[in-house]
Amino acid sequence: MTDAPRILVVIPTYDEREALPGTLARLRAAVPRADVLVADDASPDGTGRWADERAAEDPAVHVLHRRGKEGLGPAYLAGFRWGLERGYEVLVEMDADASHRPEQLPALLEAVAAGADLAIGSRWVRGGRVHRWPLRRLLLSRGANVYTRLAMGLPVHDATAGFRAFRADLLRSLVGEDIASHGYCFQVDMTRRSVAHGARIVEVPIDFDERVEGVSKMSSSIVTEALVKVTVWGLQHRTQRLLGRLGYRGRS
Ligand code: GDD
Ligand code: MN
Repeated sequence: MTDAPRILVVIPTYDEREALPGTLARLRAAVPRADVLVADDASPDGTGRWADERAAEDPAVHVLHRRGKEGLGPAYLAGFRWGLERGYEVLVEMDADASHRPEQLPALLEAVAAGADLAIGSRWVRGGRVHRWPLRRLLLSRGANVYTRLAMGLPVHDATAGFRAFRADLLRSLVGEDIASHGYCFQVDMTRRSVAHGARIVEVPIDFDERVEGVSKMSSSIVTEALVKVTVWGLQHRTQRLLGRLGYRGRS
């Protein structure tokens, strides 16, 4: 990778017309050399149209229009493929609602420049913080991460984090796999696959701000999908470890 790698920030959006403008302005100011791809699932509130107007004014901004709401996973995968085809060397995940401070993106990029294949903006390492989250969401996120660690043995404290920077080489192998996760468990899925690839993962402490504009897309079906998938992955992980101990080579 050269000294100034080409960076693409992928922002998935569904009904983020209120929140996206502020986030995008902060991002363009904080990391002017990064390009941006808004991956919009035909938001009824016109987010995609607004992003088109922004893209017409700013050559660093691009828009990927998708047919309809399919969840954050497929939107990210489409965005990553778009970026890999165009030769970006670092690809970033970030929410549209400014929960991830654009001003903290340089810390993630520095971790990649220093050798990480995946830098995770982590709420649950020393120095990481969550601001203005209701107790219910705090418990859900903490619980999800503790369960994920116990079930799957992942060496990561914030496996559901949505603020990440991937080196293109790692991402290229990941997007070639059959990733069927739709909701937020997509993040766990990408984490476990990165671990399986032997990726160098670094957790960078971040401040996570609860959104002020728009609403979260978290739903009970997203929680259910995550719970079921993490349990299955956990059982697979244990079975493979057991087979390994018994002398069988797992498929990984
Ligand atoms: N294109 C598309 N399609 N985008 C979506 C969809 C979808 O179906 N669902 C959600 N998004 C976008 C939102 O518009 C937002 O930009 C981002 O994905 C995250 O969604 P939020 O609804 O803001 O998530 P959250 O704040 O509740 O959840 C945060 O915590 C999760 C659990 O830790 C995020 O940081 C998630 O990334 C994280 O997994
Ligand atoms: Mn959010």
